[in-house]
Amino acid sequence: MSSETTYRPDADPIPSAARPAATPAPFPPTWALKVTMAVTGSIFVAFILFHLAGNLKVYIGAEDFNHYAEWLRHLLNPLIPGSGFLWAFRAVMAISLVLHVYSGITLWVRARRARGAHARRFLVRRLGSRTMIWTGLIVLCFIVFHILDLTVGKIVAAPGFAPDDAYSNLIHSFERPAVALFYGLTMALIAVHISHGIWSVVNDLGGTGTRLRAVVFALAGAIAVVVAVANLSIPIAVQLGFLTVG
Ligand code: HEM
Repeated sequence: MSSETTYRPDADPIPSAARPAATPAPFPPTWALKVTMAVTGSIFVAFILFHLAGNLKVYIGAEDFNHYAEWLRHLLNPLIPGSGFLWAFRAVMAISLVLHVYSGITLWVRARRARGAHARRFLVRRLGSRTMIWTGLIVLCFIVFHILDLTVGKIVAAPGFAPDDAYSNLIHSFERPAVALFYGLTMALIAVHISHGIWSVVNDLGGTGTRLRAVVFALAGAIAVVVAVANLSIPIAVQLGFLTVG
């Protein structure tokens, strides 16, 4: 038997059986999840700003607030009959929410797997990015509570919920101190979530300019503070007795 070893540069140094299989590309690809987060997140920010404008009508009075809620239900009548527009809008929001939560959780799991214990110890992450998954899940719980409370009028709603009196439902709900506190705390968490979210949209969609980043950073903070303070003022005004029924 010959002991001579022939050097073959094209030969594979590791026998194929011992070589770990190449990691398949993850599905859905990470870039697609990030774009989904950015697009659906932007839809939510637009909704929150639109919703805030409507919420502030509570300071004008019951009639105005209820008129606005009624207007929303019959938007684009008679082109789209009944509450067709509202239901189409709700469908877009529900689909966006499912995609946003799915993409967010998938990205979070992938990032955890990719990061070793060593990297995790030395990684300096900003408060917003580290808490996105948790603030996001709390906001999700808030949305479920909020819809049961003020739209559906079941389980967590204040006694005497009336489908056609959005103003009274709102006041009676916020007259409960625990509920007012819950709304207040959630508004603060929403501010943290959306300020970091708006900032991420620019990164995920490829914005790199220093100036652009500075503008978006300031804008994200300003939008978050305005939304939080303005929304927060409503449960506080009810608790202090500035907003009442009748
Ligand atoms: C203190 C702040 C807020 C107030 C006073 C408020 C008030 C209301 C009211 C009165 C309704 C019921 C409208 C109707 O059925 O006619 C409603 C629905 C809703 N709100 Fe809010 N809201 C607040 C904050 C938020 C935030 C921060 C979000 C999102 C994260 C949100 C998401 C929703 C959604 C998804 C609905 C259901 C819309 C529908 O399908 O009819 N709200 N809100």
